[in-house]
Amino acid sequence: MDAINAQIRTLAQSTDDAGRLDIEIALRKIRMEIQTPQDTLMELANSNLLIAMFRLGVDLGVFRELSKANDALTVSQLADTSQASFAFMERILRYYASTGVIAEVSFNSYRANISTHVLADPRAEGMAHHGFDIFGPIIQSMPDFFMDKNYEEPASNVDTPFQRAFNTNLSCFDWLVQQPKHFASLQKIMTSLESAEWTNGFELIDTEAKRLGLSNLRSSERPFLVDVGGGHGHQCVQLGKKYPHLLGRLVLQDLPEAIDRLPPIDGVRAEAHDFFQKQDIVDAKFYYLRRIMHDWPDKEAQAILSNISSVMSSDARILIDEVVLPDTGAHWQATMADLSMMFAFGGKERTTQQWNSLVKLSGLRIEQVHTYVASTYTSILVLARE
Ligand SMILES: C[S@@+](CC[C@H](N)C(=O)[O-])C[C@H]1O[C@@H](n2cnc3c(N)ncnc32)[C@H](O)[C@@H]1O
Repeated sequence: MDAINAQIRTLAQSTDDAGRLDIEIALRKIRMEIQTPQDTLMELANSNLLIAMFRLGVDLGVFRELSKANDALTVSQLADTSQASFAFMERILRYYASTGVIAEVSFNSYRANISTHVLADPRAEGMAHHGFDIFGPIIQSMPDFFMDKNYEEPASNVDTPFQRAFNTNLSCFDWLVQQPKHFASLQKIMTSLESAEWTNGFELIDTEAKRLGLSNLRSSERPFLVDVGGGHGHQCVQLGKKYPHLLGRLVLQDLPEAIDRLPPIDGVRAEAHDFFQKQDIVDAKFYYLRRIMHDWPDKEAQAILSNISSVMSSDARILIDEVVLPDTGAHWQATMADLSMMFAFGGKERTTQQWNSLVKLSGLRIEQVHTYVASTYTSILVLARE
């Protein structure tokens, strides 16, 4: 078994993203095949416990303390730092070790492993809270909600399992902005997912960024990119790191609740803007929307695009940074996100055909698709006016 483990590790380290995905899928399949029916059923029936224990561990600082320590820690030490009782801590640590998120060294002694470090990251905190506090109740209400709705796909973002879970008539975003703690968790998660990966090998952005660097013309004062619904500005920051001369030409837009308390970001102009209103920056080269469209049903998604396409110049482009669902063989993270979007927002991940019909309705066409994460089909859809 040790030899097989070592072989798999070496293979995973020496391959690319697609190869790593093949290995991961194969291992999941083998795991399911060798489980007994009881293993499968017990795991499924208790899956709610996973996210609850993730949040509990974050609240108690268990992962943080173990990750910080250079050595193993005892149950007493962890009970002291978290102010939990010894008896309680003993039982929860035994559970974490049995699921592999911490390592058991000897009786009542534990140390961090690779998963502990992941869970100790401050970014995991937002995920634990959002996953448990927001998605937990939504998922609990979901089966009965759809039974009552005759298993129809939601056509509106104010008639989803979210409204039933939180007993509100508001849409999820309208509700979240009234809950500063939860809205902050969402922004924390989005910031944790920051990445400059989308620019890798993306010739259009590279050429245009370099062209601007060479230009002394007044036209170079034109905003280069508006990050529409850009949260706390992490994508602008990433772009500015890669192309520092773009700083001063990047604009961040989001709701006032996201923008107003934001500390200034060097070289990025932040402004409150509701994307259901007409875009007020009419002369930008790029309008960048990451993880926005999947939050909305088609009618609203179309309105967001039309509010930009109706004012943008003919050489401007909208860049949608999202998943393009393949017709078959979708990745589990994409199918999971698709369902989460449906349950909370009435939104969806979209296939090529669904993207085509959506953008057409907003007077746009797909000029190119730059896929930058092969495993999840995460792509930049470049949209031009028709
Ligand atoms: C899923 S997050 C994506 C954030 C960012 N684009 C990213 O990829 O990290 C959705 C963003 O849309 C913003 N948003 C929601 N409704 C909005 C509206 N009507 N106008 C502008 N922004 C809005 C939220 O505040 C949030 O920052």
